[in-house]
Amino acid sequence: MAAVCCLFNANAQTPDMPRLVKKGNYFQLLVDHKPYLILGGELGNSSASSKTYMKPIWAKLKKMNLNTVIVPVYWELMEPEEGKFNFTLVDYHIKAARENHLKLVLLWFGSWKNSMSCYAPRWVKTNEARFPRTKDKIGKPQEILTPFNKDNLKADKSAFVKLMQHLKKTDVQHTVIAVQVENEIGMLPNARSYDDAANRSFQQAVPAQFMNYLQKNKEILLPEIKAIWQRNGYKTAGNWEDIFGKGLVTDEIFTAWYFAVYVNEITSAGKAQYHLPMYLNAALNRPNVDPGAYPSGGPLPHIMDIWKAGAPAIDILAPDFYFPNFQHWADLYTRTANPLFIPEIKFERGDDAKAFFAFGNYNCLSFSPFSIESTETPQKEPIGKAYHILGQLTPLIAKYAPMGTVKGFLFDKDSVTKKVKLGNYLLTIKHEYALGWSPGSKDDTWPQTGGIIICVAPDEFYVAGTGIVVTYEPLGNSKKAGLLSVDEGHFKLSKWIPGRIMNGDQDHQGRHVRIPVYEYNIQHVKAYTY
Ligand code: DGJ
Repeated sequence: MAAVCCLFNANAQTPDMPRLVKKGNYFQLLVDHKPYLILGGELGNSSASSKTYMKPIWAKLKKMNLNTVIVPVYWELMEPEEGKFNFTLVDYHIKAARENHLKLVLLWFGSWKNSMSCYAPRWVKTNEARFPRTKDKIGKPQEILTPFNKDNLKADKSAFVKLMQHLKKTDVQHTVIAVQVENEIGMLPNARSYDDAANRSFQQAVPAQFMNYLQKNKEILLPEIKAIWQRNGYKTAGNWEDIFGKGLVTDEIFTAWYFAVYVNEITSAGKAQYHLPMYLNAALNRPNVDPGAYPSGGPLPHIMDIWKAGAPAIDILAPDFYFPNFQHWADLYTRTANPLFIPEIKFERGDDAKAFFAFGNYNCLSFSPFSIESTETPQKEPIGKAYHILGQLTPLIAKYAPMGTVKGFLFDKDSVTKKVKLGNYLLTIKHEYALGWSPGSKDDTWPQTGGIIICVAPDEFYVAGTGIVVTYEPLGNSKKAGLLSVDEGHFKLSKWIPGRIMNGDQDHQGRHVRIPVYEYNIQHVKAYTY
C-alpha cells in the first residue's frame, strides 16, 4: 500500500500513539504501528461505575474475542467537587483491560448524554445561575446544559483536559486508543433552545466561519444542506432565517452549528494535551419525522456538513445503529471522506453477518454491539464467532481493501444474491438458504447471513463468513470456471494453516464454495478455467 498521510499534527504525538491515517478517502486506525479494526463491544451505561460489577465481565468479553471495549468515563464521578479529580475508575479500567489484553475506547459522558445533561456533576446541576440550561418554547428550563454559555463550556473543557492529561501521564502503553467526545448530542423536544443567549444568537448573522465553509465547499456539499441553501437563493450574508428560511430545518441547522463549535473547543483542548483519535456519535433520526421530535442537531447524515464545518477537530462522525436497514445508514455516513465507525449497534442476532459486511464493504474501523456484557452465554455468541474470523483477517483486509479487492455481503430473505467482479472472475454470492437444501429455507424469515471475500491474486481468494454460497464465472472469455482447491483453515500469526480439504459434498463436487448457516469459517480458494 502506498504511504498514507497522518491526519494529526506530528509534534503532538509520540510515534507509537494510536492514530488515524488517511490516503485519499481511505482511513486506517494504527495501533501499535499496525492497522487495527475495533472488534468491540460497548458496556451498558452504568456497568463501568462499579469495579465489583465489572470484575467478572472482563473474562466474558475475552470469550467473545473482542479486542476492544468501549467504556464510559462519567464526569460526575471524575470531578465530584469542582477542581477535585478522581481517576480511580479510569485507572481501574485501563489496568483491567491491559491485564486482559484488551484496548479501550473511552466515552466522555460530559455536558451531554443522549441529549440530556445527566452526567454533569452535582455542583453543575445545582448551580443553574452559573451553568444555565436550554429552555423550551415557553421558557421552561430543561435538564440540558445550553451550548450558548461560556461557563458550561469552560467547566466541561477543563474536566476533559484533565482526563487527557491524566491519560498522557499514565497510559504509557496506549491501552486507550480513541475517545468519544460527549454522547448522542441532540435537542429535544424542540429543534432549538429558546434560552436568552440562544434567542440572541438566532437573530445574529450566521458566523463567517460557517458561511465561508459553505461557499468554499459549495460544489461538494451534501445534497440535503445544499438544497436548503439553494432554496433560499444561496445568500451569503444574513441571520439564520435569512440564509436557510423559516422553519424547523433552520432551527436544527442553528443548533447543530452551536453544538459543533462547543464540541470542537473541548476536542481541540483535549487533543492539545494528548492527541488521540476523537469521534462523535449520533442517535439516528427516523425518516419523515420533524426536527425536534428526534434528538436534533447531532452529527446526523443530513447535517454532516455543519459538523464538518464547525468541529474540524472531530476525526469521525459515527452512527449508532438501532434501526433496520443497515446498508442505508452505512451508505449515508460514507458519502463524504468519513470512515464507517460503529460505536454502538443493537446487540442481537445478525450482528455477526453485519460485521462481515461492514468490514468488507465499507472502510469500517469499528463494530461494537451495545451492552455487550449482558450475554449469559459469551462462548456461544455469534458476534464472538465473527470476531474470531475477522481478527485473523485484519492484516489481509488492511492490505487489500485500499486496492478494492475486499468485498462484504449481507443477506436475508429479501436480499438473496449479489454479483461482484474480483480478480479474473465474476462471483455470485448467495444466502445459503437460496440452495433450498436446508429445512430452514422454507421458513417465512431467514436468519441474516454475511461474508467477506478477499481476492489476493487473480485466481486466489479467501472466502469467510456464515451462511453463504459462492460460484465463479470467468471474466472476458467463454470458458468455464472450476475450483482447483478449497481449503478450510485459519491464520496463525498471519500464516495460513490449512485444515480440511473441502472437496466432494463440501464444495458440491467442485461447483461452489459454501459456508452453511450457523457455521463460521475461512476457506482458501484457488479457481481456474477450462
Ligand atoms: C444509545 C446511547 O448512546 C447509549 O448510551 C444507550 O443509552 C443506548 N442508546 C440504549 O439503547
